Amino acid sequence: MKITTNSSRKELLRSVMNADMSEPEFISVLDEDLDLLRQFFSYYKCAIMEIETKFRVLNEQFSLDGESNPIEFIQSRMKSYGSIYRKISAKNIPPKLEAIEQEINDIAGVRVVCSFIQDIYRLADCFLSQDDIFLIERKDYIDSPKPNGYRSLHLIVAVPIFLENEKRMVKVEVQLRTIAMDFWASLEHKLRYKKDLPQEKLELLSGGLKECADESARWDDRMQEIKNMLEE
Ligand code: GTP
Ligand code: MG
Repeated sequence: MKITTNSSRKELLRSVMNADMSEPEFISVLDEDLDLLRQFFSYYKCAIMEIETKFRVLNEQFSLDGESNPIEFIQSRMKSYGSIYRKISAKNIPPKLEAIEQEINDIAGVRVVCSFIQDIYRLADCFLSQDDIFLIERKDYIDSPKPNGYRSLHLIVAVPIFLENEKRMVKVEVQLRTIAMDFWASLEHKLRYKKDLPQEKLELLSGGLKECADESARWDDRMQEIKNMLEE
């Protein structure tokens, strides 16, 4: 008879169910000091605050010209322990804070949901021209959508945070998208986790999602055209 220990059962459940990890579980995998781990994550929380503020300031500034605010809402998140663990396992990254800091770009994530496509590029240009923002990577999935139809503008940036005795550069993933892009991505994300579907249904799902993505891209273009017409 095969004996499954509690911890190996947990391991199995985690990988199968995408379950998350607790702080003690994560600490035991990394074999690091708890205070160091908390310090490490607090850098990213601070970086999120910096980036959010920058977009809020731009939103305020843009609305001074008598136009409505370009940002609908901002959503930020810290990557969960389970998600970091899965990523380092998949990419063969050593389970050490230093390696995680080097190799994982999306521990801190800020999503900026805009009203119109042009707002995305205007905001991104202003944000990237700030002299304390360092662009590491830019991926324009609006210009070149993913094959499944996913659209958004992704920026990996480094931003300084000023602490009691030091200045640290911290990486943040910024995703800019319209409401339509966000609507599609949120629902697609939910449906993608129904992985146990038979091939035939999977194809139906992908086809349907791609049609919706194309449709939502047309909405964005049309809304932008209407806005441009009104402004002429
Ligand atoms: P990963 O973070 O490992 O995926 O790295 P990557 O360099 O391939 O990142 P990419 O810029 O392609 O995407 C990063 C993030 O964008 C994901 O974590 C999602 O939040 C979002 N994203 C990318 N592709 C999709 C997609 O097809 N559907 C949805 N819903 N979100 C996506
Ligand atoms: Mg990611």
